[in-house]
Amino acid sequence: MSNRKTLAENIDELNRQQQIIKQLRKTNNEEYKRTGKKKTYLIRTYGCQMNAHDSEKLTGIMEDLGYAPAQREQEADFIIYNTCCVRENAEQKVFGHLGTLKPRKEKNPNLKIALCGCMMQQEHVLKEIKQKYKHVDIIFGTFNLYKFPELLQTHLETGETVMDIWKEHQDIVEDLPSIRKDPFKASVNIMYGCNNFCSYCIVPYVRGRERSRLAEEIILEIKDLVKDGVKEIMLLGQNVNSYGNTFSNKYTFPSLLRDISQIEGLERIRFMTSHPKDLSDELIKVMKQSDKICNHLHLPFQSGSTKILKAMNRKYTKEQYLALVEKIRYAMPEISLTTDIIVGFPGETEEDFKDTLDIVKQVKFDGAYTFLYSKRTGTPAATMEEQVPEEIAKMRFNQLLNILDPIIYENNLKKKGHTLSVLAEEINQQNTCLLTGRSDTNHLVHFEGDPSLIGQIVPVKITEVKTYYLIGELVKK
Ligand code: 5AD
Ligand code: SF4
Repeated sequence: MSNRKTLAENIDELNRQQQIIKQLRKTNNEEYKRTGKKKTYLIRTYGCQMNAHDSEKLTGIMEDLGYAPAQREQEADFIIYNTCCVRENAEQKVFGHLGTLKPRKEKNPNLKIALCGCMMQQEHVLKEIKQKYKHVDIIFGTFNLYKFPELLQTHLETGETVMDIWKEHQDIVEDLPSIRKDPFKASVNIMYGCNNFCSYCIVPYVRGRERSRLAEEIILEIKDLVKDGVKEIMLLGQNVNSYGNTFSNKYTFPSLLRDISQIEGLERIRFMTSHPKDLSDELIKVMKQSDKICNHLHLPFQSGSTKILKAMNRKYTKEQYLALVEKIRYAMPEISLTTDIIVGFPGETEEDFKDTLDIVKQVKFDGAYTFLYSKRTGTPAATMEEQVPEEIAKMRFNQLLNILDPIIYENNLKKKGHTLSVLAEEINQQNTCLLTGRSDTNHLVHFEGDPSLIGQIVPVKITEVKTYYLIGELVKK
């Protein structure tokens, strides 16, 4: 029997969760009236933007349940860890924090602890939690976040740890309402899951097969956000360039971008992540034509060695990547390019690593996320022979940074004297006279300005540059 649900069943299911939320909120409100204190929650988010967006959905649920945000974890009545398993150190952090919660839970059994996200989709993690972290109350995965209210209710009724992990997605509506951190920018899922199976990556195993949301739904969501005051949206997908591959018509990612660009009132469009193998000429054309699409492309290359790229199952060669960059830069000479790089993939020799450095030198990226290869159980790369010793990988990693940083700095220097359009996002935490924002080229920019500018896109002339940020002056209109 298929476990696929019809739309009506979906709506029923969500309504059921809404009913549960209502009941739980009633109890919480009664307690609030009695005690004069609202119960508080804290969500700790690990990993990528997709997870950050899931946390916004959880925030929506927690607020609906009548909880207030806690200022610090130590004060929270309800703690949720939304976990990541892309690299081992993210997992270790979760286990570390979880360990520190044990004595707190012993002292205060009313403290609620929930775990969710990618780590929970792995058998060995669940086993470890069951054995060593019995103080966790609720555990769910990436496919059933919507069910959190019901799981909480079951836990409150039984007092037992409730664990509900699905092996795959079941067509349950994944687009839950969320509470945004900022009123002026928002993330929007355009697709879920990944079909690429890069040999080092756990994502396809924990986020399931690729599925695209219907354009009508995405556009409606963005129109609502714009009505709400949102100026910038970030379209999210593991590989946005394969958006629509499962549709029977020819509606593609560039088609979607074109339609989103038409939305009145929307000022900026960003998207991530782009897989080089699927980046089409059409996408370049749409990016070039639309003033709203930001002048930035995140294009992970992972390794510069064609041999390693093949072992990674990336489906492009070093030369193809370089040719693609050339094509993009030819069409959009001012584009800012950022990337992801993995160092120390199994079998990587000094020669292979030199090819990675060579791409860095040739492309001269504006920014890069660099990662030490992390062995993920269940992925093909985990069992590959010739795992690179840690000391060698670390040495290469440092060498890479020593080459990358001056390149980024040199690129930033070229911005000096130029005026960039910057979305003012917040008061600078170190120096409260400054505002901090992002240019359309995705540079972090600090500048002097009145807090009333937060949420506005303003021209800023760059006066000073560092490797990781730019400093500028507001250009008076
Ligand atoms: N080890 C190191 N880096 C990884 N990434 C994904 N899986 C691994 C891994 N096992 C990196 C890739 C990807 C980014 C989100 O995380 O560079 O683009
Ligand atoms: Fe992982 Fe590759 Fe999919 Fe990105 S495209 S999520 S690196 S498998």
